[in-house]
Amino acid sequence: MAQQQNSPDGTAGSPAVELIEQNGEVTLSIGGEQAMQAWERDLMWASADLLCRHGQDFYEVGLGLGLSALRIARNPATRRHTVLELFDEVEELFRAQHPEPPPTLTIERGDFFERVFDLPSESIDGMFFDPALEMDVWKDEALWARVMPEVVRALRPGGVFIPFFSTRPELRWQYVRHFRTVRVERHPYRAYDTTTYTHGTSGDAYIQCFYKD
Ligand SMILES: C[S@@+](CC[C@H](N)C(=O)[O-])C[C@H]1O[C@@H](n2cnc3c(N)ncnc32)[C@H](O)[C@@H]1O
Repeated sequence: MAQQQNSPDGTAGSPAVELIEQNGEVTLSIGGEQAMQAWERDLMWASADLLCRHGQDFYEVGLGLGLSALRIARNPATRRHTVLELFDEVEELFRAQHPEPPPTLTIERGDFFERVFDLPSESIDGMFFDPALEMDVWKDEALWARVMPEVVRALRPGGVFIPFFSTRPELRWQYVRHFRTVRVERHPYRAYDTTTYTHGTSGDAYIQCFYKD
């Protein structure tokens, strides 16, 4: 259901997870793909700061380099921040880099597409959603129709759902039909020359914040 479950050589099991630091660039590679890069820091921080304006108990999908997770957990408003991560190796890398994470931060292991059904109703003030998914998952309309009502159910009234930035201004169909109010912030960005997952390596990124009325 989730991200690549095959290693680059095609064998079954967890994909290879690697932290690559070269030529001043930092990349988290999962299964040979760029899953996260450190140039995203300012966009992660802007998303995290926006999330933290809406309460005190937060939830995040996808640990990655932990840039957003640490920013949310360290915000003075935050009482509790729970991050769900699919892969052991990603958490191990994070813990090696950050041996003393803030006490507000809890990391859980699991697949969002299974765990979302177990989230208690109206238990969180905001969710930051940043998993790296395969294109066939993004295109699965029936899947999004099942999981997004669960996200809305888990949010408290007035709570927010913030997915990772988009480099296109259009509201994402996966989310928009489940909310009545949306705020969009435009932020200029510059990726690495080697970045392959954005539309171009510079321009505007859009942070979309969906409100549960
Ligand atoms: C883009 S990174 C997250 C970056 C993070 N926001 C940061 O600031 O570093 C995506 C993460 O989502 C995780 N992931 C992918 N699919 C997932 C799923 N179904 N459930 C939970 N985590 C998932 C990946 O293993 C990866 O660590």
